[in-house]
Amino acid sequence: MKKIIVTGGTGYIGSHTCVELINSGFEVIIIDDLSNSTIEVLDGIKKITGIKPEFYKIDLANAKETLRCFDTINNISGVIHFAAYKAVGESVSLPLKYYKNNLNSLINILETMQGKSFKNLIFSSSCTVYGQAEKLPVTEQSPIIKADSPYGNTKQISEEIIYDTINSTENLKAISLRYFNPIGAHESAEIGELPIGEPNNLVPYITQTAAGIRKQLRIFGNDYNTPDGTAIRDYIHVTDLAKAHISALSRLVNNENKTNYEVFNIGTGKGDSVLEVVNTFEKVTGIKLNYKIVNRRPGDIEQIWADTSYSEKNLRSKTEKSLGDALLSAWNWEKKYRNIT
Ligand code: WQD
Repeated sequence: MKKIIVTGGTGYIGSHTCVELINSGFEVIIIDDLSNSTIEVLDGIKKITGIKPEFYKIDLANAKETLRCFDTINNISGVIHFAAYKAVGESVSLPLKYYKNNLNSLINILETMQGKSFKNLIFSSSCTVYGQAEKLPVTEQSPIIKADSPYGNTKQISEEIIYDTINSTENLKAISLRYFNPIGAHESAEIGELPIGEPNNLVPYITQTAAGIRKQLRIFGNDYNTPDGTAIRDYIHVTDLAKAHISALSRLVNNENKTNYEVFNIGTGKGDSVLEVVNTFEKVTGIKLNYKIVNRRPGDIEQIWADTSYSEKNLRSKTEKSLGDALLSAWNWEKKYRNIT
């Protein structure tokens, strides 16, 4: 059975990817510092798959800890690297925390992989590298625009670090997956998005408002140059996103990659506005949401969605779930987590 290290594997996207890895016959080893997730996620993975992954609580930004941990692990077929801080707003107020953690973790992993001759890396990147693109939908060849947050900049710099490292060696292959907006939860509602404190992202804010935890959803701006004035994003069900990782990993493990460093957009190829998300949530759940329009949120872009033709062709991964499926799954997770019947 091929062994895969998943860093950040108790996180939102990491845990859903571990489920799909196990379902695809891989053995999963999770490394996480639990700074933004809980150990109970392992129980959720076990409830879904029947397997509780091997787990190491490690600060990957610490080179010694990382090396010591990897030294105990052998015959790894690949590493999927999710572990990073990802709150855009926090990264603006604490840039060094983000550069230190996100870049040192990646550098330690690359150095350790080289030392152990593990050669397949999947990196969790983001559509934030495109900024506000001139031309939509964005393709993998769309220009990379200077990020407007340290978080987004760590993703851009990380891609460059991987690219330069790969060009210096024969023994490393990597794929960066540029996520659009991951939403929703596993259909079992045993795992899902678990923001600590007040959610930054739209969908957890919606489900917490519906659950009565938040009083009212604020819609940040309806004066954008879009059909209904609210901002547009490409919302992809987290399970579809997780499955794209299996496709990317298989591409490397089976030596189907065309070059040693490849980049793919992982989205649905469809843009939805904030109001369309709200209206779809109300439709699929039957719940009327309490919201008000407020000013734009600083740093937000107006609209982005993916051209998925290149990733669909090369990864043979196509999204199966709709916006409604994702929003209903997010609500089912919220209800189960809060014991709401
Ligand atoms: C979506 C839309 C908000 C909250 C972030 C990260 C990005 C990626 C995806 C990791 C925007 C609006 C939001 C609210 C609102 N993550 N909104 N009220 O900002 O597109 O991207 O998640 O890779 O890196 O930056 O996602 O969910 O915060 O916002 O009106 O309470 O919803 O203005 O238009 P975003 P988001």
